[in-house]
Amino acid sequence: MRHHRRLIGFITLTASMGMVLGASSAIAQTYPAKPISLIVPFAAGGPTDIVARTLAAAMSKPLGQTVLVENKLGAGGTLAASYVAKAAPDGYTFLIHHNGMSTAPALYRKLAFNPLTDFEYVGQVVDVPMTLLGRKDLPAKNLQELMAYVKTNASKINLANAGLGAVSHLCGMLFQKALGADVTTVPFSGTAPALNALLGGQVDLLCDQTTQTTQHIKAGTVKLFGVTTKERIRALPDAPTLSEGGLKDFEVIVWHGVYAPKGTPIAVVEKFNAALRTALKDPTFANRMIDLGAEIVPDAKQTPEGLRSWLQSEIQKWGPVIRSAGVYAD
Ligand code: MLT
Repeated sequence: MRHHRRLIGFITLTASMGMVLGASSAIAQTYPAKPISLIVPFAAGGPTDIVARTLAAAMSKPLGQTVLVENKLGAGGTLAASYVAKAAPDGYTFLIHHNGMSTAPALYRKLAFNPLTDFEYVGQVVDVPMTLLGRKDLPAKNLQELMAYVKTNASKINLANAGLGAVSHLCGMLFQKALGADVTTVPFSGTAPALNALLGGQVDLLCDQTTQTTQHIKAGTVKLFGVTTKERIRALPDAPTLSEGGLKDFEVIVWHGVYAPKGTPIAVVEKFNAALRTALKDPTFANRMIDLGAEIVPDAKQTPEGLRSWLQSEIQKWGPVIRSAGVYAD
């Protein structure tokens, strides 16, 4: 009798698994049937937005549908992540986010989503160096002079960022920690408005990504103190690394991942991932990214598992750093 019940259970399980797989592959055949939203957690025109819009254009081709970029701002990117975590898992809402997915759990005591359990992972996109910039008329010619200036004038310095969870915040926090200086931080909804404030002289310093800053550095409208990579970068070959300039071992690289709400059918995630990988090989996408100092991630990182395992290692890496800095939001 018990044997009989087990057999019925097995048949039911196999039948329902077959139905799920059948439904999933049926969805994949018709997917996508309408435009897809790609949610960006920061202001339009900024570095995440630039990567997202270039990627969306390149992915629309293999998908045969438009990928529409939507900016959902606030709380250092956590509002957008929580919006996507709660969105319908139907393949029509995705999130593009950076290191903020890995720093948010340590920065926010009350986080409305769990980066490791509330998403399906599509893959990583590009790695982007950061640049430490000052307003054009800041009285420091190089990093050594800037460090001395910040140490003696800390109470007068305004350092812009895009809020707790932004990489501009993380980079600025590490800079302050390295100098042992406590400056005033000024949060914006993204580094697009933060850079405007720097260009207008309303703030003194900003740590921001080359995808947005390269053109301003080349035009000489901002003062560059260094790049945050270990080696100099091709897009700005004359720019010293911060490590060369005196901040030994200072390194922040911005990585980007694409996420879907948990429960999005696997066949849909696979189709979106295939379009992502095609887009990363598209010369228009690749050349634009290279010109802006970004690097397409290696093939292994372009996969769902490549993103999931990287995210997990980044959470482990940044958690202790953030906790030791004692920075958090209630
Ligand atoms: C942006 O897109 O505005 C930036 O990525 C924000 C940040 O500094 O993290």
